[in-house]
Amino acid sequence: MTRFTLKNEQQTLALARRLARTLRGGDVLLLQGELGAGKTTFVRGLARALGVRSRIKSPTFTLIHVHELAKGKEHRAKGTLHKTLSSKLYALRYLVHCDAYRIKRARELRDAGLMDWLGRPDTLVVVEWGEKIKPLLKGRRYILIKFEHGEQGNQRIIKMMASLQS
Ligand SMILES: Nc1ncnc2c1ncn2[C@@H]1O[C@H](COP(=O)(O)OP(=O)(O)O)[C@@H](O)[C@H]1O
Ligand SMILES: [Mg+2]
Repeated sequence: MTRFTLKNEQQTLALARRLARTLRGGDVLLLQGELGAGKTTFVRGLARALGVRSRIKSPTFTLIHVHELAKGKEHRAKGTLHKTLSSKLYALRYLVHCDAYRIKRARELRDAGLMDWLGRPDTLVVVEWGEKIKPLLKGRRYILIKFEHGEQGNQRIIKMMASLQS
């Protein structure tokens, strides 16, 4: 488990950028934490780093937002994220942003089409309130990122851990 203390929104965005450099297609991020903890802000940081041009907002009502990476960045992603891997197989093309806040059962996200995106080598899946969809991930590896408020107003504690499933 890795723990970070972020003093302000800029530091949270910077951490998301750092993480973005280590991700590859097929990865699944589950973001856990109460309202206002910084999950959507973090997704915004990831999206910027990956070259998403469309606006990132919580997909609370639509459940799933699919963002296509800008073309230029897609190539950059090939170079920086996947140096040692086959660029054809692992180039990121889509950021899929989900929000499980309103769902009562994991299968609501399954019915909304999430399974089509999980594990695709050109797709990074990020789920806010992601702990709710663990039943859909049986046997799949994921990265769990927990967000907590710190002592000061703009302070956040972020803990990252990889699942043991593979
Ligand atoms: N260190 C920080 N990291 C992230 N957001 C912060 C931080 N400090 C203050 N904020 C504010 O907290 C709010 C987080 O909201 P948001 O990212 O939508 O949370 P969530 O998606 O978890 O509900 C934003 O208004 C943001 O400006
Ligand atoms: Mg949110």
